[in-house]
Amino acid sequence: MVINGERVPFSGEKNILSVVRKAGIDLPTLCYYSELSVYGSCRMCMVEDQRGNIITACSTPPKNGMEIKTNTPRLKKYRKNILRLYLASHNRECTTCPRNTTCKLQDLAIRFGIEEIKFDKTDKAWKDEYKIDNSSPSITRDPNKCIQCGDCVRMCNETQNVGAIDFALRGYELKVCPAFDMPLAETECVNCGQCAAVCPTGAVTIKNDVPSVWKAIYDDKKRVVAQIAPAVRVA
Ligand code: FES
Repeated sequence: MVINGERVPFSGEKNILSVVRKAGIDLPTLCYYSELSVYGSCRMCMVEDQRGNIITACSTPPKNGMEIKTNTPRLKKYRKNILRLYLASHNRECTTCPRNTTCKLQDLAIRFGIEEIKFDKTDKAWKDEYKIDNSSPSITRDPNKCIQCGDCVRMCNETQNVGAIDFALRGYELKVCPAFDMPLAETECVNCGQCAAVCPTGAVTIKNDVPSVWKAIYDDKKRVVAQIAPAVRVA
């Protein structure tokens, strides 16, 4: 296939994103982890094909002869506006957030030059602050920082087979929480911390006052992210 005018051979890659990454291009993603099922919700990975169609690179298989561009002015504008929408409903107290400087949303906002908050919270459900769940001995859930990428849900359900958290409600009210919005400590959560390891923001974090094993998960996460998203060229 042809990516940004350069021929890139592929064989066995299950999606365009893998081929793009093979070509050394750092396409932004918020909801993609190769070891989890593809959810395709964040739309950060969108690319433009030869017909001008916008497609998500994570959920589209590569085809022979396909031509795509990863960084057209239209894509840049769409990515920027999507990020602005995420930021509109996101608690932006970054300086006191445990994920400050390791937050993927913060990284992308800086990368795409977002310097002002253009959209306000408009929906009633979003105007209310969600309660922070500090009930667990090891994990803090702050739904005010959740961007509903579903990474934690798929990790908990698919990989860990625990099922302590899932999506609830629909539309603007959609949120990630334990069943019946119970405190995390009252669920079947096993404190593995993998939800925090994949969360791109500070919505699920490991508490500071827990044994060093939790710190090790953070370190491990940094390693995994570096492996799956080698930043060689910027999209
Ligand atoms: Fe493709 Fe989120 S990474 S839609």
